[in-house]
Amino acid sequence: MKPEDFILGPRVSRRSALRALASTPVLLLGASDLAAQTNLTGYWVLLISNNDGTFRKSFLYLQQSGSTLTGKIVQGQHAISNGTFRDGRLHFEVVTHYAYQTYRTVYTGRLQGGKIEMQVRRNGGSARTGTAHRTTREAMLPPKPLPLPELRDLPDNGLVRTPPMGWNSWNKFAGRVDDKIVRSVADAMVASGMHKAGYEYINIDDTWEGERDKNGRITSNKKFPDMKALCDYVHSKGLKIGIYSGPGPETCGGYVASFGHEQQDANTYAEWGFDYLKYDWCSAGRIYKNTEMRPVYQKMGEALLKCGRPIVFSLCQYGEDNVWGWGAKVSGNLWRTTGDIKDNWKRMDEIGFSQFAIQHYIRPGHWNDPDMLEIGNGGMTSDEYRTHMSLWCLLAAPLLAGNDLANMSEDTKQILMNREVIAIDQDPAAHPAQLASYVRDQVVAYRKLADGSTAVCLFNRGDHAEEIGLEWSAVGVEGREIQARDLWKHEAVSVSNVHYSTTVPTHGVVMLKVKATA
Ligand code: GLA
Repeated sequence: MKPEDFILGPRVSRRSALRALASTPVLLLGASDLAAQTNLTGYWVLLISNNDGTFRKSFLYLQQSGSTLTGKIVQGQHAISNGTFRDGRLHFEVVTHYAYQTYRTVYTGRLQGGKIEMQVRRNGGSARTGTAHRTTREAMLPPKPLPLPELRDLPDNGLVRTPPMGWNSWNKFAGRVDDKIVRSVADAMVASGMHKAGYEYINIDDTWEGERDKNGRITSNKKFPDMKALCDYVHSKGLKIGIYSGPGPETCGGYVASFGHEQQDANTYAEWGFDYLKYDWCSAGRIYKNTEMRPVYQKMGEALLKCGRPIVFSLCQYGEDNVWGWGAKVSGNLWRTTGDIKDNWKRMDEIGFSQFAIQHYIRPGHWNDPDMLEIGNGGMTSDEYRTHMSLWCLLAAPLLAGNDLANMSEDTKQILMNREVIAIDQDPAAHPAQLASYVRDQVVAYRKLADGSTAVCLFNRGDHAEEIGLEWSAVGVEGREIQARDLWKHEAVSVSNVHYSTTVPTHGVVMLKVKATA
């Protein structure tokens, strides 16, 4: 979930936007009411067009005292700052911090005829315009919870015996993803050699959704004119395709989600031809308790098993409620273990190195998901991206590229398509990765592989190149002779049968495949 989504609030369809306005009380004011009218204190609903036939809806609570405005954006409870209201014009800001990034959103507006014509600009980006109307506190309340199924262990759907590999639209394109981009990425997945290297799923993340039709069936918005044709296109390339929703009324981006329509949506995805669903908690948190996540996810797990098409089930609830303990029981194939990744070293490092304690939960068909890859998005050095790739592969994490596959540098291609490193990720034994040593910024970790060899990573999380060493016995490798291969240099390394040490660049990695002869 991103702070900007809270700030701008959920997206709603044109129809429900109009409905929200229609239910807003119209005030007929006499002259004596004019002073009250120009006091902004109260609840407001702000509707901003997404330019795809849908609107983003957010609720504001404003308090005016003289020319000073205070209050909050109700979703996320973000306080407004630097608020003023003078001569019919208002200004305020909202500052949030997430994953080592700061977001400053500036709202400017003009009160006209009881409405506020508003401009919203995030981090100096282009302005989006919308209209705010008065509303009530009650209008903001979430729907009542639905009855939840009795807990039971669902059968395994038999999919993704090795960690899923593919691409997801969110990290690079976020709300800009459309039919054309998805097709171009599918083309590029084949043309670049990514498909041959093992990548298969083309996953559309949030912002594809339109409104529900009169039968409650979900539609796609203007950016996706024909979902079935798009699925057919992706399948014609020999690839598979994924879609996104959530158990609440709205997705994290504020689009329509599956609350109360779980089976109907699963059936629609199957009819369109989707092969993968990422199911994102988000607004369900306003309705259900975190301890109710398992039955909520079970409901969609059951719906997918009944929809008549094999669909990978990807749980996204940021690792709450120890999901690794029950994700497989709701027929989940993978589950996010943390909040969102960002294209910066600190966040990637924080997420990646926090995964070892829960490694023993992985097994064929059921994977911990430390979030999608940022390789090629420009916020990290090549050494940092090699660390990202090595760590995700050592952890047997899903490999979902998050960059623009149609525009990749040679370096990005070499990192994403390093088949020797990918083979570690895809090792059929799915043994857990383990820490051998963790001294200051030096981390040595390893994983036993199906062929009896061992993958070993020497990570340098520090700010200077460092000599890192290990005794082979610390990674369970012992024998008369030891053969080691450097998986980034693609060459054999000559090593003693007792220990090994090498210089590792700042934020870099040396990744070896090691085998002992008795
Ligand atoms: C959440 C998820 C992200 C992405 C966005 C889309 O933040 O964790 O991976 O799906 O929602 O709105």
